[in-house]
Amino acid sequence: KKSQAWSALFSEPMSELVKRYTASVDFDKRLWQADIEGSLAHADMLAAQGVIGADDLAAIQRGMAQIRSEIEAGTFEWKLDLEDVHLNVEARLTQLVGDAGKRLHTGRSRNDQVATDVRLWLRGEIDALLPLLAQMQRALVSVADQNTETILPGFTHMQVAQPVSFAHHMLAYVEMFARDAERLADVRKRVNRLPLGAAALAGTSYPLDRERVARTLGFDGVCQNSLDAVSDRDFAIEFSAFASITMMHVSRLAEEIVLWMSQNFAFIDLADRYCTGSSIMPQKRNPDVAELARGKSGRVYGHLMALLTLMKGQPLTYNKDNQEDKEPLFDTVDTVRDTLRIMAEMVEGIVVKPEAMERAALRGYATATDLADYLAKRGVPFRDAHEVVAHAVKTCLQRGIDLAELPLAELKALNPAVGDDVQQVLTLRGSLDARNVLGGTAPVQVRAQIARHQARLS
Ligand code: ARG
Repeated sequence: KKSQAWSALFSEPMSELVKRYTASVDFDKRLWQADIEGSLAHADMLAAQGVIGADDLAAIQRGMAQIRSEIEAGTFEWKLDLEDVHLNVEARLTQLVGDAGKRLHTGRSRNDQVATDVRLWLRGEIDALLPLLAQMQRALVSVADQNTETILPGFTHMQVAQPVSFAHHMLAYVEMFARDAERLADVRKRVNRLPLGAAALAGTSYPLDRERVARTLGFDGVCQNSLDAVSDRDFAIEFSAFASITMMHVSRLAEEIVLWMSQNFAFIDLADRYCTGSSIMPQKRNPDVAELARGKSGRVYGHLMALLTLMKGQPLTYNKDNQEDKEPLFDTVDTVRDTLRIMAEMVEGIVVKPEAMERAALRGYATATDLADYLAKRGVPFRDAHEVVAHAVKTCLQRGIDLAELPLAELKALNPAVGDDVQQVLTLRGSLDARNVLGGTAPVQVRAQIARHQARLS
């Protein structure tokens, strides 16, 4: 008895183990909408080209509508015996409409079909991710908007470096996510090309109108080489690269949130709904969401490696290896989507503690560079100024005071170039205001950046 689409040649049934090992329907049924959409576009073109009759097309459309409602209602019976989503849908179609269903696969192979389905599906997911990246940026910009005058220490080497505003810090992440969105929009261009018409690998002898199918499905163009069309998954790899970079950015932000919430920083607090408690330590409120977001970057990187490795040894053209592209890709999409959504929400609700930030900025001589700059602007060579200030910091360290707390007379004794106005440049606000360069942390610059982002994201 014939059970598989190709089984006339076979003299014994497939072993159960092989069946389970090779079937993909458990996970690729997720592509069902793309599969139906792709089939309808193909059938419509076949009819327009006179390859199948108008009655066949009508029957296929009717059958597909029925299948769609069965799947939506959860009554569609997915069969492992039918291997994958494509054969499941096609078999049911034939059951419903007879010969017209058997004509659907004319001039088509599962090889160009699956490549088309994955691209269609991924395009939809990309279009859902782009607004989430915008939402993430808007959340950061709104926190920035409220914190142009909130000062915290900027760090290099995790050592206090120079004061920056919390707004400036948030906007650094806005830049990162803006580039991620740009990257994703660029990936979309190469995802959005039509493989259908390549058939198994060499093209087909039927007079297909591939441009028509591309238009119907909203593709920007047609894959120009049939061998390339069925075999490469670089579009999925590129998407994973985008996802990995985005998760890397998310992870850095998550790490800072975890640090800032630690009692040793206490720069921020998170709303209770984003925290979890401990089953043993009653005092605990843990930033689990941020930690998980940081942790989940690992699986996304892993999927990128899986896809690269999956592809690298494959001779042209289609090989069954490619069936392994789906689970990593699906999980990547799910992880990035959920992570962006929850992180954007959490960021929006960050409770900033300006006093703690300022206290930290006042420890660690964050304005030492300002004093050196002050001297350099009054003619002291910068290297000498650097040395003079290093001595001053050493003195302060010994006495346990800040630079701004050194009596004016002692500051003046450091170098003849020091004037009465020196203490102003040693304040945190003075330090911020001084960095009035494009891209700098001066509040006037940061406010201009906020306005630019708001206009861009509205
Ligand atoms: N399930 C297969 C995949 O995901 C569909 C294509 C199968 N093609 C084939 N010739 N076996 O790649």
